[in-house]
Amino acid sequence: MGIEGLNAPSLRLILDRAHAHADDIQTGSVEPTLAGRFICSLFLEDSTRTRLSFETAARRLGAEIIRFDASTSSLSKGESLLDTAQTLIAGGAECLVMRHASSGAPAHLNAGLVRTGHAVPIVNAGDGMHEHPTQALLDVYTLERRLGTVEGKTVAIIGDINRSRVARSLTIALGTLGAHVRHVGPRAFVREGLGVPVFNDPIEGTRGADAVCFLRIQTERTGRAAYLPNTAFRALYSGSREGLIPENAIIMHPGPVNRGVELDAKTLEDPRCVVLDQVANGVPVRMAVLERALLDEWGEA
Ligand code: NCD
Repeated sequence: MGIEGLNAPSLRLILDRAHAHADDIQTGSVEPTLAGRFICSLFLEDSTRTRLSFETAARRLGAEIIRFDASTSSLSKGESLLDTAQTLIAGGAECLVMRHASSGAPAHLNAGLVRTGHAVPIVNAGDGMHEHPTQALLDVYTLERRLGTVEGKTVAIIGDINRSRVARSLTIALGTLGAHVRHVGPRAFVREGLGVPVFNDPIEGTRGADAVCFLRIQTERTGRAAYLPNTAFRALYSGSREGLIPENAIIMHPGPVNRGVELDAKTLEDPRCVVLDQVANGVPVRMAVLERALLDEWGEA
C-alpha cells in the first residue's frame, strides 16, 4: 500500500526488474508474464500519467486491463466502494489499481475485502496526501538511469511538500536507499519532523544537489487557496529563478506542471529536465509492480 514498510532489498527487487523490463522494451522482447490475467483500474481521482502508464504496463505484460469509469457507475447512485470492488472482483478482476482522494482508502478497502473473504491485491496509485508509491519508484528509477545510483546523492524536493503524497513516498524511498533528501519551500509548505533537513531559503536548499524535484501546488487536496500567490512563489521557488538549479543537477517534476508557476517552458525544454523520462519510466516500473502483485513466484524475501 506504500513505500513505508518496504526495506531496501524489496525496493531493489522492483527497481532491478524495472531496469530489465526497460531493456526488453528496447529490444522488443518483453515476456508476457501476465498473459490471461485480468486487472481493473479504479481511479476515483483524476489522472493522466499514472493511469496511462499502468494501462500500458499491464498490456505490455499481456494482461487485460479494464478501466472502471466512476462517473458513469453505480457509485453515483450511492453504492459503496466495498460493494463496487466486490462487484469488479466477482466479474473476474484479479487485481485493483486504485487511486483515491482520501488518505488510507486502499488500506481501508483492503480491510473490507479481507473481512468479507474477497481480497485481491490492491496497488496504490495515489491516496490523498498519504502515499504515491509507484511515482516514488519511477522517480528513483529515473535518478538511477541518470546517476547510476541514488546512494550518497543529494535530492532537493522543492515546493508544496506538506500536501504532497509524492514527496512523502519519495522521501521514504530515497532515505531507505541511502540518498540525502532535503525539503525546500516556504514555511506554509514544509515542516520539520520528517527526518530530513528543511530549508526555507531556496538557494541554500538546492546548493550542491544532484537533482531538484519540483512539486505542483495542490490546492485541490485541502480545498484551501494557495498560501502564496503564484507570482511570489515563482519569484522565489520556481525553476526560473536565477541560480536555483545547480549547474549539473537533474530537473524533475512528477507532473502535471503548473506551467509558469513551478517550471516555465524554458526550464521544461532544458536538457537537464527529465519530466518526460519520468513519464516513460513509469511503464517498466509499473510492469514490475503489477508482477509483484500478481505473480506468486515473485520471490520476495
Ligand atoms: C502526482 C499525483 O497525482 O499525486 N501526479 C502524478 O501522479 N504524476 C502529483 C500531483 O498531482 O501534483
